[in-house]
Amino acid sequence: MKRFTIIPVLLTLIFSGCKSKLDRQIDDIVSKMTLEEKALLVVGVGNESRWHNDVPRLDLNSILPAVAGGTTPIDRLGIPYILLSDGPAGVNLESYRKGYSTRTYYCTQFPIGTLLASTWNTELVQTVGSAIGDEALAYGVDVLLGPGMNIHRHPLNGRNFEYYSEDPLLCGLTAAAYVNGVQSHGVAACPKHFAANNQETNRMGNDARVSERALREIYYRGFEFMVKESHPRTLMTSYNKINGISVSERRDAVTDMLRNKWGFDGVVMSDWYGGDHPTAQIHAGNDMLQPGRQWQIDSIIDGVKKGTLAETDLDISVRRILKLIYTSPRTIEHPTNDAHLDEHANITRQSATEGMVLLKNDANALPLTSGTKNIALFGCASYDFIPGGTGSGDVYRAYTVSMLEGLQNAGYTIDASMAALYGAFIQKSVETNKAAAPGRYAELTRIRPDEMPLTAQQINTQVQRADVAIVTLGRTSGEYYDRPSADYDLSAAERTMLQQVCGAFHAVGKKVIVVLNIGGVIETASWKDLPDAILCAWQPGQEGGNSVADILSGKANPSGRLPMTFPIRLSDVGSSANFPIDQTSENVSVALRRTDIGEKNVDYTNYDEGIYVGYRWFDTRSMEVSYPFGYGLSYTTFDYSNAKVKQHKDKITVTVTITNSGKVAGKEVVQLYAAAPKSQLDKPLKELRAYAKTPIIQPGKSETITLTFNRNDLSSYDEQQHKWILAPGTYQLLIAASSRDIRQTLTLDI
Ligand code: BGC
Repeated sequence: MKRFTIIPVLLTLIFSGCKSKLDRQIDDIVSKMTLEEKALLVVGVGNESRWHNDVPRLDLNSILPAVAGGTTPIDRLGIPYILLSDGPAGVNLESYRKGYSTRTYYCTQFPIGTLLASTWNTELVQTVGSAIGDEALAYGVDVLLGPGMNIHRHPLNGRNFEYYSEDPLLCGLTAAAYVNGVQSHGVAACPKHFAANNQETNRMGNDARVSERALREIYYRGFEFMVKESHPRTLMTSYNKINGISVSERRDAVTDMLRNKWGFDGVVMSDWYGGDHPTAQIHAGNDMLQPGRQWQIDSIIDGVKKGTLAETDLDISVRRILKLIYTSPRTIEHPTNDAHLDEHANITRQSATEGMVLLKNDANALPLTSGTKNIALFGCASYDFIPGGTGSGDVYRAYTVSMLEGLQNAGYTIDASMAALYGAFIQKSVETNKAAAPGRYAELTRIRPDEMPLTAQQINTQVQRADVAIVTLGRTSGEYYDRPSADYDLSAAERTMLQQVCGAFHAVGKKVIVVLNIGGVIETASWKDLPDAILCAWQPGQEGGNSVADILSGKANPSGRLPMTFPIRLSDVGSSANFPIDQTSENVSVALRRTDIGEKNVDYTNYDEGIYVGYRWFDTRSMEVSYPFGYGLSYTTFDYSNAKVKQHKDKITVTVTITNSGKVAGKEVVQLYAAAPKSQLDKPLKELRAYAKTPIIQPGKSETITLTFNRNDLSSYDEQQHKWILAPGTYQLLIAASSRDIRQTLTLDI
């Protein structure tokens, strides 16, 4: 436990007490470096086995298997290397080490980013970040490549699971909490991917054509909140272009905005192989190119020699990288390899329960009554539970607790014959699907089984034996691919299973619970009337089955709220007109191509919906949705009263009393939206400006919650004047339980 406090203290000492000394030492080193050495330092060292790199300067994989990148050590000057590892849901390192025959160095798989955002609890997210930072430190990782924090622009983005929300405030504050947690151990966090990285289809070549206003208010905004609320020591630029230029080559974004306007003072790195012009990247302020290739080194040396890159620009990046190196854990202490896995298993179990969202609970179907003993468990995902997404956001965990195991651990009985049936079906179906999938696809994704067809007799046996039925619906996705539209809808087999199970169990008065084991939004409107309760469990990490059982049994009261809207139809979504829906499903290579043939939504994507993303779109247009942003039920109820607002200089403070009016203890998420007066600028109907999660409130008890924000947070970006404008007039402050459930309204004169 001691290390928890020692590392930050050491770093603070280095930064505060000896700052100028460190800077002077760095100046001295830079003055001794040759041009070649400087180029070597800004271009990553690569991981031969993972990235097929052509610069074998350090055998990264033998130091830390599967590590994503590193810097080149320069022995002549005594400059050590540092190591960079994914990723957002836990440290993504292989579990073996050179010279050891057993796999013992596991990492904890925590819940996906979307679940963390669903907690609306920054303190809890910081605890998760801290546990990840602790593991990174223990295993010798200097930079942790997370959090992922792009906006959920469209439900089908294959990496939404790594990201937080459709709203920049929720996204920015969640990311800041994560960064603060990771960095409390001296490990640098690396928020990514800056910015407008909203699709996987042709992710390296896609040009996001976005208005200046949408960039400022939506796509940059989360990063702005995050930078101001935390102090990330590194940051990753995205692959895509913004309005024709790669983000890593945009000085206006990387230097003018990020550094000069928001105060970021760390190292900016490219995404892996991102950007085409190394000299432009260095000039833009993108200090480090990962994973590093020889042509990039040559191009930088050549650029300086020919005068297309100022050596002073290169020196600035070299200085920043040296500062990162000399304040990294590796230069302070050796890895302990003691990753506190038991302690972290508890953290992931508890954090997962807090981000699960109870979408429906008719006639108190949940929590399960104390008389519930036997559970009929349907759906392949019940047995083959999905802890997280694929790609760099995956984790080499030691185990996954399935729903079956979680329910058994909680004392419920699951029919063994049913479990055996599913086990055999899953194995066969996965093998068949793997054989049929294109090689690259199979390599990159976790192939899922189809849904198992059930006979009436199989279901009726369960009806007789069980007290209640649980049906789990699973989805997975990951890097390189957007989800096909079929992944949004239920498959015919899933629909049939739901209808059959609900029909048979309801016929004898027994209840049916649906558990959603998903990483992104799916269609719910057409079938949500069928079951008695729906729990969105997301992909909750390696302890997932235990976490779900905690909620179903009532050991934990659900307090997650949706960080995005669940629309009725995919076509209702504002960005659906400009998203590569099913544009890659037949030709996988399209996802990875870089040549521009001018294909809409692949080579370029028009963000025609502008700032109208998520609830800003649905609510302003008064469109019906399946579940609104911020929505989620509890096993208790909360009353809102006594709302008050105070304005002191630039600070607005709102207080509200929250009373637990139900029968069990629980936490509430209090959301504050502002509705602007009419002004010259078009405004969304309402926008989230602050939120807070209550502590546990006992039945009959109350808590006064304080929500604060700055006057300027109410501003909108005026593209004509190129500045933020705070429109005068009367604002409505809506204190709400979701974007569609306003409990108290106040007014504020600006
Ligand atoms: C991903 C990044 C990741 C990097 C290193 C890239 O493909 O986009 O998120 O950090 O690989 O693994």
